[in-house]
Parts: sequence; structure tokens; C-alpha cells
Amino acid sequence: MTRATFPETGQSRTEVLDILKSLRKNDIDWKRGRTPLYVFDAGDDVYEMGRAAFFEFFKENALGKNRAFPSVLKMENDIVDMSLDLLHGGPDACGFMTTGGTESIIQAVQSCRNRTRHDRGEPAFRGNIVTATSAHPAFDKAARLMDIEVRRAPVGADYRADPEAIEALMDDDTMMLVGSAPCFPYGVIDPIADLGALAQRRSVWLHVDACVGGYVAPFARMIGRSIPAFDFEVPGVCSISADLHKYGFCPKPASTVYYRDTTCAEFHAFDFDNWPSGRFYTTTICGTRPAGAIAAAWAVFHHLGLDGYKRIATELMEFVDDYRAGIKAIPGLKVLADPHLSVVAFTSDEVDLFRVAELMSRNGWLPGLLKEPKAIHRLMSLVHHPVLDEYLSDLRDAVETVRATGAKAEGIEAIY
Ligand SMILES: Cc1ncc(COP(=O)(O)O)c(C=O)c1O
Repeated sequence: MTRATFPETGQSRTEVLDILKSLRKNDIDWKRGRTPLYVFDAGDDVYEMGRAAFFEFFKENALGKNRAFPSVLKMENDIVDMSLDLLHGGPDACGFMTTGGTESIIQAVQSCRNRTRHDRGEPAFRGNIVTATSAHPAFDKAARLMDIEVRRAPVGADYRADPEAIEALMDDDTMMLVGSAPCFPYGVIDPIADLGALAQRRSVWLHVDACVGGYVAPFARMIGRSIPAFDFEVPGVCSISADLHKYGFCPKPASTVYYRDTTCAEFHAFDFDNWPSGRFYTTTICGTRPAGAIAAAWAVFHHLGLDGYKRIATELMEFVDDYRAGIKAIPGLKVLADPHLSVVAFTSDEVDLFRVAELMSRNGWLPGLLKEPKAIHRLMSLVHHPVLDEYLSDLRDAVETVRATGAKAEGIEAIY
């Protein structure tokens, strides 16, 4: 591969934009619902609101929210306040915006680790985190950055975290348990109440990773769906990560991290004064970060309101019901576990699903695969709704072909 060279002369805006468009030619067509993850969509109106607000604050820098841009500070605080209402935060609860689920998780792990070090009076305490195999790799990323151990316990028969298996991996150095709401692979919400009770009994921190569910589960509950308690209403939950840029339908990069109280949040911020430029105080790992994402999230919240989010949750969950019924109607397929929201995986005892995925990819459907057990997996939003029948019809054809030929996958791999 040749290395790109810096252009000798500049090109016109039109030329550059044309090149950008042409660069997309091999991309997966997310607008036609072909991606099983990466893009979360709630229709053109929400997209346009987020986009307009993002570019309204395109130049401002959220790093300067405390000194230069009180507008940005207010919007971030409003988002945190509004979200804490959704997540049953009490009067002492607090939170911060970040640039993504991974950053929210790293911040929460760091807060817990430093809180624990402080409380134990052991500044070099290493500690471990115990969770289920289904928890997101962001916890291992955080652990690698901070030299913490992560222990992953097998999930139960229902694919949810198994509190007994988790407890079996705990020891005196365990400082944090993690439950997902829902987990990425299976779309099920872990038994957060049981994990909360365990965390309280063993005096450790419980983090709930609601990066996927944080901004859809509350609305799904409001419209009467059966969603188990997962947030601060559960005793023992110390922190929650929740992504605005997933099912909050806000532009990337935008996530949030919340703490039950100021004691849990005490070690969140980075506060430094040992250099020539004076006090350097940030509430994110990033320094400079886009104010546009904050303005956009604020605008989307206000544009949609509770009724807008409930409307989206209604359409989404009804679509997911139809999707699940469509999967069940294809001989040889079954939905894996009993997903609570719109992350759904299906599996088969009769055909090689990875071969099915290979055939589906010929029609442009990017495969989302699970390897334990072998399954096809999608995080669905409204962009997948208009192509529901097309997806199910292609799927039925692919399953029938694989059944008829008994073909096995030619080398496709499960990659996130
Ligand atoms: C459950 C869960 N947690 C955390 C993350 C990490 O989020 P991000 O990709 O925004 O860093 C994801 C991403 O898909 C996720 O599904």
C-alpha cells in the first residue's frame, strides 16, 4: 500500500466534498438499515435537530465550559439533571458528560479504584472487578490502563449475569461488580437488584453499564414494557454509564456517567496545579472536546421531550416485537434468551448461522455475529424498521439455502 502524500495545492470545497462522497462508495449502507450496530437512528427530524445544534456550537470547546462558555456548562448540567430524573437519582446524585461509553466506564472505574484506595488507606491498592462474560470490553480497557484485574464469571441459563458465579470469583481485593442494562451480546438486563444486594453485603461498588439501555429503558418502562429496575432506585448501585449517542439518538460523541452521591464522585475530576499555567481542572479524560455534542444532546432532549422519546420507544418496541415474531416464523431459527429491549440475537440448532450470515452479506447486510453460542445479533433502531420485511425475506432465503446444501461457513469471523 502506498502512503498518502500531502497535496501540493489545495482543492476547491466542491472538489473536496465530491471526493469525500466518493470515498463512501464501499461503506455499508446504514441508511438502508444494513449495519447491525454503529449507527442509531430515530428518523430525519431528530437527526436534523442534532445536526443543526451541533453546528451552532461547532467552534466552542467544552474544555472551556467553566471559564469561557457558561452556555456549554448550563447545557451539560441540564442534561445531567434531566437524566438523573430518568434514572431515579436522589438529591445527592451527580454526573458528567463524556465522549462515549468507554470514557464513561473508564471514569467510573477510576472513581471506584481511587475511592477504594482512599478508604483502605492503601495508595497502591490494585483491586479487581468482577462481572459476567457478557460485559463490554471497555472494563478490560479501563483495567489495562489502571493495572486492575478483571474476572469474568459465566452467565446463567438465561444469559444474564449469575450473582452466585460472580460471588464465587470475589475475594478481599474485589472493589467493583458490574452489571449490564442490557449487555451488548444478548440484549438482556442483568439481575441488578441481586447484584446490588450482593454488593451491599460485601461492601463493594456496583456499576451498572447502561450504555445501551440508559436512554431507552426508562421510556420503555413508561410505555408499560416489563423492564426490571436497573438504576439508582436499586440499592447498592453506585454508578451508571449511559450513552446519549446510542439510544438517546444524539450525535456522537456523547455519553454520560452518574454517581449515587458526591462521595462516590469525589475522585472523578482531574484537578492539577503543578505546572506553569495554573489550575487544570477537567471532568473528562479528554481535554478539548466538542461543545457541539453537548448542544446537540440538549437540543434533542428539548425537541423530543418525554412524549417524543416515548413515541420513539413505542415504535421501536413494536417493531422489535414484529422482528422477533418474524425470526420465530423462520423454521430452524430461535431468538436467543429473552431480550428486554432492541438488542436481539437469534440462533439455530439446525443450520450453520455463520454461513447464513455470509449469504446475507451478499445482499449488503453487515453481519453481527456472536460466537458463544453462534448467533446473529443486531442492535436495532428505527432505521431498521422500513427494511424489516426485506431483511426477513433475505434471511428466510439464506436459511433455506444453507439447509438445502448443508453448507458450512467459509471463514467469516465474529468481529465487533
Ligand atoms: C454495553 C456497552 N457498554 C459500553 C459500550 C462502549 O461504548 P462506546 O463505543 O461509546 O465507547 C458499548 C458499545 O457498544 C456497549 O454496548
